[in-house]
Amino acid sequence: MEEQHVIICKDLPAELGAFLRSVPYDKLFVLTDTNTREKCYPLLCGVPGIQGAPVFTVEAGDTHKELEQLAGIWMRLSNEGASRKSLLLNVGGGMITDMGGFAAATFKRGIRSVNVPTTLMASVDAAVGGKTGINFNGLKNEIGSFYPPLCVLIDCVFLRTLDRDNLLSGYAEMIKHGLISNRETYSELLAFDLDRVDYGRLNEMVAKSVAVKQRVVADDPFELGIRKALNLGHTVGHAFESLSFKKERPVLHGHAVAAGLVCELYISHQVCGFPMELLSQTVYYIKEYYPAFAMYDCLDYETLYELMKHDKKNESGIINFTLLADIGEVRINQAVNKEIVLESFDFYRESFGF
Ligand code: GLY
Repeated sequence: MEEQHVIICKDLPAELGAFLRSVPYDKLFVLTDTNTREKCYPLLCGVPGIQGAPVFTVEAGDTHKELEQLAGIWMRLSNEGASRKSLLLNVGGGMITDMGGFAAATFKRGIRSVNVPTTLMASVDAAVGGKTGINFNGLKNEIGSFYPPLCVLIDCVFLRTLDRDNLLSGYAEMIKHGLISNRETYSELLAFDLDRVDYGRLNEMVAKSVAVKQRVVADDPFELGIRKALNLGHTVGHAFESLSFKKERPVLHGHAVAAGLVCELYISHQVCGFPMELLSQTVYYIKEYYPAFAMYDCLDYETLYELMKHDKKNESGIINFTLLADIGEVRINQAVNKEIVLESFDFYRESFGF
């Protein structure tokens, strides 16, 4: 499959305007959440094509990525005369690009969508790759489809006002992209100072990170094989994230992924010979910037393991890991002894001192 169309912008309003002039459509609709309506939409509302377009605004936050709000989007599209030739412009983080993408995938059997991600997480991950969906029945992304947007326009202008926790959250996915690409890219990522962010440099690194994801998705858009590389850190990471919800101390997705990466690189070391030196460098970097995921002890190990067993990426009830033999040497579909998985929880606790 061709790589998805991504534009790394220097001047988002101008480049979005030019893009909109280049595609035929009858009506344009804008989707925002309450935050992006206030903080991001004002930068775009003067763009020809967007000026005067209906704006749908939904509640912000992943807990609102659900059926009722989705139905609200369908309703507005229907009542305001959207046709199959209409365009839905999703302006927001992963919650908006996921739900807007799914609204577009399903309305009149599919209208085109364009993503303008406003968080680092959405820029390097959620908005690119065509995964769309909503949470349902208490399960994350339970309903959804693969439905690539027509284009993704990324501008780091929005990242300048992003809070530190959200910056770290997105950066965890960049670390993951570095781990599955090459040593040079990975070294750059581990040299980046997250306390004094150089946004120009970040812009360049975002472009590289997105290119990693674009290549993987182009090779395997429906996650039948190598796209599983993008699940590195997520098997343990999702279990940590779910545990944080169970304990009513929710952590951001990328924070759980950063902790998951530490565990899964430990497992990679044990199972695939991932070099100890790289494991130590990664632990050092994550420990320097990310808060410790210190809400578990050995009494939670069985719960964590059970959570991993229910991951929708598993096949035939076997926990399906993506591991590394080295930077860029990905091993998908790895079954791992339970003992090693539990040891990785110990390793994380020892590394973070709790
Ligand atoms: N977030 C992982 C993927 O898009 O496959």
